[in-house]
Amino acid sequence: MKDFLAGFSNLETPFYFYDLSILDETISAIRQANRYGYHIHYALKANNNPRILERIRKAGFGVDCVSGNEIRIGLENDFDASHVVLAGVGKTDKEIQYAIDQNIFSFNVESIQELEVINEIATKKGKVANVSIRINPAIDAGTHHYITTGAKENKFGISEDELFGALVQIQAMTNIHFIGLHYHIGSQIMDLGRFKNLAVRVNDIQQKLVAKGVELPHLNVGGGLGIDYENPDENPVPDFETYFKTFHENLELLPGQELHFELGRSVVGQCGSLISRALYVKEGSDTNFLIIDAGMNDLMRPALYQAQHKVISLSGRSEEKKYDVVGPVCESSDTFGKGLMLPETKRGDFLVIRSAGAYGETMKNTYNARELAKPYYSEDF
Ligand code: LLP
Repeated sequence: MKDFLAGFSNLETPFYFYDLSILDETISAIRQANRYGYHIHYALKANNNPRILERIRKAGFGVDCVSGNEIRIGLENDFDASHVVLAGVGKTDKEIQYAIDQNIFSFNVESIQELEVINEIATKKGKVANVSIRINPAIDAGTHHYITTGAKENKFGISEDELFGALVQIQAMTNIHFIGLHYHIGSQIMDLGRFKNLAVRVNDIQQKLVAKGVELPHLNVGGGLGIDYENPDENPVPDFETYFKTFHENLELLPGQELHFELGRSVVGQCGSLISRALYVKEGSDTNFLIIDAGMNDLMRPALYQAQHKVISLSGRSEEKKYDVVGPVCESSDTFGKGLMLPETKRGDFLVIRSAGAYGETMKNTYNARELAKPYYSEDF
C-alpha cells in the first residue's frame, strides 16, 4: 500500500482503493483451482463496480443476482443472460417479469408461493422459466448469525420436508422447467468442514429424489468461502484449491450433472481497502481516540457484524501507541477497532482499512448526510 502513498496525497478522503493485481491473482487462482469445469456465478452484491466486473466477466464467470437492478447491472456490464441466476426471498412481480424477459439462466426459488407467481407470469408471457429450488439444509455455517443463511430458523429456502410436495406441484405448472436444487449456507465460512457437511446433506437429498425418479441436471451450492481479515497481506488469496477439492471429493454428482457456485467475498474482498485520514487524536488517561474521516456509512461491516478489518497506519513513525479507532458518525457503533497498537498517528496521516472489497461499497450509504466514498484503481496510479 505504501507504494501508492504518493498517489493518495491529492485525493479527498475517505475513498475506496482497489489493487487490481490482487483481483487478477485471485481470479487466476480460482480458474486454476477449478479444474473440474464447475460454473462460477459471481455474487454481484459483493461489489458491482464496472472495472471489477469487467475482469470477472473476462474470466468467464456468470453472475448471481438478488434484484432486477442487479440483473440490469450484470447485463450492462456484458454478462450473458444465459449465465445469470436470480435469488432472493422477496422477488417482486416486476423483477420476475424482467428476469423472464431477459431469458436468464435460472431462478433460485425460495418458496412455493413464489413458484406459483413465476409460473403465472411466465404463462402470461408464453415463456418457460428455468427454476432451481433453494433448500434450507439446516446446517450451521459457524459464522456470524447475521450472515448465516442455511440454519433452520433462517428465512431462506424451503425445508427438505416441503420439497417433495413442491416438486409434485411443479409438475402441474406448465411454464416452469425444474432444473435442480440450490443451497447457500452462509458467508465468511473459514471452516471448510462446513462445506463437507453441506456436500453430505446434498448427497442424501439427491439420492432420495433420484429414487423417486426426479431429474436434477444442475446443482448449485452457493458461495460463502471466507477471507483472512486478520492477515490480508499475508493471505490475499483464499484457498480455492481446498475449497473446490472439498466439493469434488465429497459431492456425489449425478451422471452429467453440472455444478454451480456463487462466490462473492472470496473473489473481491481482499483487493479493496478503504483509505482514510486521521482527523483528531483525543488522548485520554485510559484510551486514545483516533478519530478518522471514514465512518460506518462508508463501511458498515464493523458496526453491523462486529467485523474486524485490519487497520494500518501509514504514518511512518516507529513508536507504537494504543488507539480506539473511531469514525465521525453520531453512533457509538461507529468504531473500527478498540485497543489497536498502531504506529503513532497524527492529524493528516493516512489509514488503510483492509479487506473492504466485498460488501464495502455496495453497502455504503449517506447516513448523517455524508458524501459517498469514491472508488480508485491501482492501475490509474
Ligand atoms: N449466494 C447467495 C444466495 C447469497 O445470499 C450470498 C450472500 C452469496 C451467494 C455470496 O456469498 P459470499 O461468497 O460472498 O459469502 N453483507 C454481509 C454478507 C452478506 C452475504 C449475503 N449473501 C457481510 O458484509 O459480511
